[in-house]
Amino acid sequence: MNTTTEECIFKSDMLSGKTAIVTGASRGIGAAIARRLCETGAQVVVCSRSLEGVTQTADSLKDEGYTVHAVAADIAQKADVERLIEETLTNFTQIDILVNNAGITRDTLLMRLKDEDWEAVLQTNLTGTMYCTREVLRPMIRQKSGRIINISSVIGLIGNVGQASYAAAKAGIIGLTKTTAKEVGTRGITVNAIAPGFITTDMTAEIPEEFQNKLLELIPLQNFGTPEDVADTVCFLASTAAGYITGQTFQVDGGMVM
Ligand code: NAI
Repeated sequence: MNTTTEECIFKSDMLSGKTAIVTGASRGIGAAIARRLCETGAQVVVCSRSLEGVTQTADSLKDEGYTVHAVAADIAQKADVERLIEETLTNFTQIDILVNNAGITRDTLLMRLKDEDWEAVLQTNLTGTMYCTREVLRPMIRQKSGRIINISSVIGLIGNVGQASYAAAKAGIIGLTKTTAKEVGTRGITVNAIAPGFITTDMTAEIPEEFQNKLLELIPLQNFGTPEDVADTVCFLASTAAGYITGQTFQVDGGMVM
């Protein structure tokens, strides 16, 4: 039985007055995170590479009365990240929550892996996460509070055939999370990671059905996760209920890896 629900069970004012940035929010997990943050009262800046995709996410949330601002930014480009943070501060004056969600895959066996594919995956998933994190630290330190939530993957914990670059980047995010948590703990900022298992999105739709069935056998809860499963964990970590949690990695994987 799937115990998850698309309906928001958190209070609608849980994050009221907070400003959040969600990277990679044009679809999938990022779009679900943006929606949940809106549903719990936050004002949200959604970012992705294409303005069209991210405007679609923003417009559908705005139609429901939420405060959302769309920014086209490639997190792999330092100048784009600087502009994203600047634009957020201009529109909302502070940044309370950063969700580093944007990510890509370029899967192939290590023996066949091209340098440019390795570099692209590391540059977006790991360096992009570092750029966004480094850039929000100054405003968060100034306001003496902040929540940084990094989307890693269980693949960063256990590795996977054909995913050397992705596994390395996602493992790197866990190291970055712990280090940042140690560096800014005294400044009232918490930094945590979420390691989703198999979540049904466009990214996983490409996996052949036969392989998906094999994966299901490895999941004690016997179903794939939904973007809302991840979004709910983000909201918890962004809330006051998680005020004493930092440097941790939360698996949202139906028990797949333990
Ligand atoms: P997706 O491919 O459906 O969406 C990724 C989003 O990131 C899109 O909005 C895309 O435009 C954006 N993006 C990609 N590169 C970007 C860049 N350089 N700058 C700005 N935005 C960029 O992926 P999905 O499935 O929603 O995954 C979201 C995150 O969750 C990723 O970090 C992924 O690695 C992670 N994840 C996903 C799992 C899954 O089963 N779907 C499992 C574990 C982790």
